[in-house]
Amino acid sequence: MTAVSPNNRPDLRDLLAFYASAGVDEALEDEPVNRFAEAPSKPPERAAPPIAESATPQRSTSVSRAEISDRLNPAPAVRAPTTPATVPDEAQAALARQLATTAANLDELRQLMATFDGCNLKFTAKNLVFADGNPNAAVMLVGEAPGRDEDIEGLPFVGRSGRLLDRMLAAIGLDRNSAYIANVIPWRPPGNRTPTPHETEICRPFIERQIELVNPKVLVNLGGPSAKTLLNATEGILRLRGNWRVHTTAAGIVIPAMPTLHPAYLLRTPAHKKLAWRDFLEVKAKLRALG
Ligand code: URA
Repeated sequence: MTAVSPNNRPDLRDLLAFYASAGVDEALEDEPVNRFAEAPSKPPERAAPPIAESATPQRSTSVSRAEISDRLNPAPAVRAPTTPATVPDEAQAALARQLATTAANLDELRQLMATFDGCNLKFTAKNLVFADGNPNAAVMLVGEAPGRDEDIEGLPFVGRSGRLLDRMLAAIGLDRNSAYIANVIPWRPPGNRTPTPHETEICRPFIERQIELVNPKVLVNLGGPSAKTLLNATEGILRLRGNWRVHTTAAGIVIPAMPTLHPAYLLRTPAHKKLAWRDFLEVKAKLRALG
């Protein structure tokens, strides 16, 4: 990293402010990496001028916002052909929809997702967080997106909210041998930011196929984003929760679904744990009724 001197400190502050305003609020690696100093592995045909070649001959290591912006958003013509897509768009969502249907089983789906380069979140995440638990379970729980702990371990709900989820499952006689757990988004959004609608649309076909392949008797949607994405709902989770809805798969299979409060929300709002407890009792009763 550039040494901080009294001369360039204000520019570093500017740079950090620029990152913060762009939503970059978390370090992804333990050690800083100066990406501007890295040589591209395959030189583009018409690269942006190196920072040192700018109009100021004897420049300091400071970088203007415009230059940073150029670097972060190079014109498509200068992209190496192998550069993966990093801008989520409808084309990637269409590709995901087409690919997801080709997975004949969960292993194929996992492999397909591991090699799919159409979602930008993949490139900042450490791991694909595919699922945990028993794919033959009668109940499948779907959260929103992995957090830091899940990203590190490559498993859903292993952090604080996961520990609460385990206790909620235990309260109705379930555990990770008798439940299957996944997320709408399988890659951690940087800094745990909310996934964009495009990112969700790109990931949606994969989780829908995953649900179809698991074919649980009951689906539990943990939190608003999971409920809204998979139940075609627009209401807030406090309205949705506690009422049975259905998830309809592409093949037309109708699965009863219980939207409930996300464990992370319950950690922040423990007074609402009693609501989630009621929802989980509903799930228990439904599982019993369905045999
Ligand atoms: N929150 C989620 O929605 N999913 C996880 O896997 C962890 C936290």
